[in-house]
Amino acid sequence: MNETLTLTRVTAYADVVRERHSVRQYDPNWTISESELKEILAEASLAPSSSNTQSWRFLVFHDKELRKKLHPIANNQQQILDSSAVVAVLGDVEGFRRMGQINDIAVEKGIMPREFADQFTERSIAMYGSLSREKQTHIALVDGGLVSMQLMLAAKSRGYDTVPMGGFNAERLIEEFGIPNNLVPIMLIAVGRAASPGRPTARLPIDEITYWNGQGLNK
Ligand SMILES: Cc1cc2nc3c(=O)[nH]c(=O)nc-3n(C[C@H](O)[C@H](O)[C@H](O)COP(=O)(O)O)c2cc1C
Repeated sequence: MNETLTLTRVTAYADVVRERHSVRQYDPNWTISESELKEILAEASLAPSSSNTQSWRFLVFHDKELRKKLHPIANNQQQILDSSAVVAVLGDVEGFRRMGQINDIAVEKGIMPREFADQFTERSIAMYGSLSREKQTHIALVDGGLVSMQLMLAAKSRGYDTVPMGGFNAERLIEEFGIPNNLVPIMLIAVGRAASPGRPTARLPIDEITYWNGQGLNK
């Protein structure tokens, strides 16, 4: 067990965001504690979401044996086995049904008046409930992307590295792990201690992907 060892923390935002790279080679002997993972997930869930519905859900593969089952479903990517945990970020297309619970917490914390909370809950459930499954899925995917990014930065700030993975078979994941119909797999994220650093990757120049006041959009 090496849970008492600490990784080099990177705390300044500018360093976290610049030093995060997708890492695919991990120290297979490194373990991450459940409490540290929970802290990372809690920081991730401070991400913004549509009406604060927080429709993301985390299916955590902490157990190595369970990750062996995940491995073939995720294109046999080695990081599934060698990282310390893999988080499957899922989007709950019926996440809005928790609006009452979320707003009750806000009332308890004194950050929302009761009357407003109840009206907000009622309006939100009516509105989200009237949307098509396609639109509900779209919202869950957007929110899931935001929480995924924040998860990776939260991990990096603690000295952990990550890689987001879309390379997995969603149907097999659903079947193998009994994921219910309301939860849509969005991304797998491996979290662990890098065995070798991730490579820097190139980015397009900002001027080529930015249209100031709409100029150049239709060129
Ligand atoms: C939605 C998505 C799916 C990805 N799927 C995989 C994957 O299955 N396997 C992998 O090794 N990297 C995957 N990546 C990582 C990208 O290759 C990587 O983010 C990109 O090359 C930029 O590199 P960087 O993350 O180091 O900045 C994925 C990234 C995203 C955002």
